[in-house]
Amino acid sequence: MGEFVVRGGNRLEGAVRINGAKNAALPIMAATIMAHDPVLLHGIPRLRDVDVMIRVLQSVGATVQWASNHDLLIDPRPIQHYVVPSELMQEMRASLFVTGPLLARLGQAQVFQPGGCNIGDRPIDLHVEGLRHLGAVPLEGDGTLLLQCQKLQGADIHLSYPSVGATENIMMAASRAIGDTRIRNAAMEPEIVDLAQFLETMGAVVRGAGTSEIRIVGQEHLCGSEYTIIPDRIEAGTFALATATAGGHVLLKNCLPDHVPGLWGRMREIGVDVREIDAENMEIIAPERYRPASISLHTNPYPGFATDLQPQFMAFLLKVPGVHLISERVFESRLGHARELRRMGAQIVADQRVAMIYGGHSLHGAQVRALDLRAGAALVIAGLIAETPTVIAGREIIERGYENLATRLQGLGADVTLT
Ligand code: UD1
Repeated sequence: MGEFVVRGGNRLEGAVRINGAKNAALPIMAATIMAHDPVLLHGIPRLRDVDVMIRVLQSVGATVQWASNHDLLIDPRPIQHYVVPSELMQEMRASLFVTGPLLARLGQAQVFQPGGCNIGDRPIDLHVEGLRHLGAVPLEGDGTLLLQCQKLQGADIHLSYPSVGATENIMMAASRAIGDTRIRNAAMEPEIVDLAQFLETMGAVVRGAGTSEIRIVGQEHLCGSEYTIIPDRIEAGTFALATATAGGHVLLKNCLPDHVPGLWGRMREIGVDVREIDAENMEIIAPERYRPASISLHTNPYPGFATDLQPQFMAFLLKVPGVHLISERVFESRLGHARELRRMGAQIVADQRVAMIYGGHSLHGAQVRALDLRAGAALVIAGLIAETPTVIAGREIIERGYENLATRLQGLGADVTLT
């Protein structure tokens, strides 16, 4: 495992371009399985998770090649296999996205219990239940799940929780089902809207994406298409929080401010100057020092505060004098980074779901570990203000979701190197 080495003390200055969104790219890549012709995707980030999805698509028979740095050409026509190899499922939970499209295309899909980021127990019951409503019959084996159907049928589906992945899996399968599907209590994330817009370029009919009720009119045929992925709101938030923590002035290019409700308001409330330059560019200007505050934040499904920004926000709060509270409400145990931050001198008391953060105290470097992708980003941010070097093990985990993070932070003046 490689490491990130961060030597703190530098302010961040300059501009950074935000890449295409990982969490939009992965389901959209999976959806190409259903197309009858090749699909060209623009703005696909060069990430380890994207590489895994490419291998998943290749494992079922698709031809996939990079047309240029962020442009991916997928030819789904040769697809004929329905089993996703266990090692790929173990590497990334999002491999699960191919079950809906494979069912729609081949009438069967076999997956293994998924792996992915270590952020608590993440069941797949909502995916299976949704696909079952569309007519798939699940058969559980030794760590495997085989789903089969004659032909998917539209259905009325009520999700007991607005799961992002389950909403996406159902949307994809439903767009090739016979008849209409209604998903109630659907997830409303911008990545859902992006998937819907992509499906529409293939000829699908999807209404209401971005609201809690999505309607899909199933189509017999989905064609090839060309599409550009939305910018990554979590990456934008991470760079914004890094700037607010380290100090400085950074322009975020290719960032859609509306996609991160909650974050900008919270940052302004704490004293960061957050300026929306236009529809795609934002400026983050950190104050010379933060006034004491008492911040209370809880995560929630969109439009609530994104759980994927919670660890980075915790690192930022270490800079703000006062006693702060973070409550994680999306995942059962996603506060493990508190323990790693404590190794750096952070004063945090945390259980599985709630953390009390005593901000405004100095940090020192330490040997720490990225427990998951966003927790790793939080450690990098904390490293930017630590008084001695921080060595973060688990570089590969951070690279699952951030393309060239070290190089891009260096471009802003940070001292971040890789081993
Ligand atoms: C997606 C994102 C991830 C983000 C999360 C929440 C991708 C590739 N990943 O993950 O970065 O942190 O949304 O915004 O888009 N759950 C069940 N049963 C299920 C599915 C989920 O109980 O079948 C639970 C999970 O355990 C969790 C909650 O629902 O507690 C949210 O999970 P979900 O919205 O499904 O997240 P993902 O789609 O896995």
